[in-house]
Amino acid sequence: MKRRIVLAVIALAILALVLLSRLRVEDRTGGEAPPPLFADTANEVERGRALVLLADCGPCHTARGGEPFAGGRAIPTPFGTFVTPNITPDPETGIGNWTSDDFWRALHEGRSRDGRLLYPTFPYTNYTKISRRDADAMFAYLRTLKPVRRENRPHELRFPYDQRWLLAAWRALFFRPGVYEPDPERSAEWNRGAYLVQGVAHCSACHEARNALGAIQSSDNPAGGLVLDWYAPSLTRAREAGVQHWSEEDIVTFLRTGRTQSAPHASALGPMAEVVYESLQHVHPGELHAMAVYLKSLPVDGAPPDAGAGFASAPLTGSLARGREIYMEHCADCHGERGEGRLPAAIPLAGNRAVCMDSVANPIRIVLYGGYPPGTEGSPRPFGMPPFYPTLRNDQIASVLNYVRTGCGADVPRVTADEVERNRGGPLW
Ligand code: HEC
Ligand code: HEC
Ligand code: HEC
Repeated sequence: MKRRIVLAVIALAILALVLLSRLRVEDRTGGEAPPPLFADTANEVERGRALVLLADCGPCHTARGGEPFAGGRAIPTPFGTFVTPNITPDPETGIGNWTSDDFWRALHEGRSRDGRLLYPTFPYTNYTKISRRDADAMFAYLRTLKPVRRENRPHELRFPYDQRWLLAAWRALFFRPGVYEPDPERSAEWNRGAYLVQGVAHCSACHEARNALGAIQSSDNPAGGLVLDWYAPSLTRAREAGVQHWSEEDIVTFLRTGRTQSAPHASALGPMAEVVYESLQHVHPGELHAMAVYLKSLPVDGAPPDAGAGFASAPLTGSLARGREIYMEHCADCHGERGEGRLPAAIPLAGNRAVCMDSVANPIRIVLYGGYPPGTEGSPRPFGMPPFYPTLRNDQIASVLNYVRTGCGADVPRVTADEVERNRGGPLW
């Protein structure tokens, strides 16, 4: 199996290098970003700071408990573990010797100062849409940070992914540099939102499925992606994370506070909680509004689950009956006897998309390791959910989730004890 993958990768590499020599890649570098409509734009460093916050550069480039932007955070992926580099202005171990041209090349082309091709774990496939002017502002801000001396650690990648030269093939197949091109048919606000969502905030880096070589698969209705063992649901599916049927206000509230306070019910957990906590809550509400306008205009597939039904009430037998007992004992106090929720403490589970999606990775992880929405200015002390990995067995967790999934208003795949087992052990997040 492994051998086959290796051979396939090398064959692809050769094929792609052939293609590369034939293709003349068209790059759009001169484009102007749709200007900010709301935030202060006069001060370049301030504008850069706002963009760096939305781009979430800091958390990825900061080790747990480490100096901000000094690198060292380990990012586990199917290809091995990446360790982020130091991007403080330290001249020897950071990017203190870089020019704004070097920085632009990294963001726009995914190349380091010495010409090395960069791995797309650094989401330059999205950042390539950022305009030169905005990249310069981000660089100006990064230069104001405290220089920190901290040597970079090498990545720990499996063969053949540790072969950096193979990225030439990967890029020929999957990467086209190009600044965001405004759509003249659309409003200034829509274009600003599209620029932020597709480029700076790189939502698709998590929310779209990747192929076996780690490239985002483009299609009209992409499936969601797997990130740090969580499933990042699709933004173009109504049963997943599509927000086309939400009001703009609800979308802004969710992005800013990590929680909606009334229907449609949603809360940001796992990696999404980090995005809200570190990045989105600090973003100007007007910018979030522009993102909401764009998100609502995305194509959408299907309909959201019907929240009205509540859990199955017919006499239950077997595993569903056991699931109901476990629910009444361990969950009903917070989530309500029929899954109607007990706001403000805990949200409804009946018809909740986080429960009803085909993928059961997230509900399993939440029941195992608990659910912790981010504390934000708009929701400073959210309630949390305790972990059940020490108290409930795999088959019990499968039963209680299958019972909860009777409130989805349609047939959904069954959760099995094996799936719960696969999610035990060393949470990545
Ligand atoms: C999801 C995590 C992640 C995010 C978000 C991220 N980076 Fe990175 N970045 C990485 C990784 C991993 C590398 C190393 C890539 C490699 O070695 O090929 C990297 C490499 C870089 C490099 C190249 C450094 C060098 O020495 O070659 C620069 C510059 C950089 N990032 C800046 C940024 C900036 C600016 C942002 C925000 C706009 C950002 N990164 C956001 C993960 C991230
Ligand atoms: C680091 C990966 C990551 C990034 C970046 C990210 N998300 Fe998410 N998102 C997730 C994961 C994982 C979930 C599922 C967990 C949850 O429901 O909170 C999620 C859930 C959501 C939901 C579902 C809410 C519901 O109905 O339950 C929405 C909407 C959403 N994200 C929007 C966005 C937008 C918009 C962006 C860009 C500004 C974004 N996300 C960026 C990982 C990410
Ligand atoms: C102490 C209260 C409490 C208990 C007990 C509890 N939960 Fe939760 N649960 C929460 C909170 C708080 C959240 C985070 C979402 C929110 O802000 O309401 C949550 C979130 C969830 C989510 C994700 C919902 C979403 O939209 O992201 C699922 C699924 C879930 N709980 C299932 C269960 C199950 C199954 C049980 C019983 C085994 C259980 N919970 C027990 C409080 C609780």
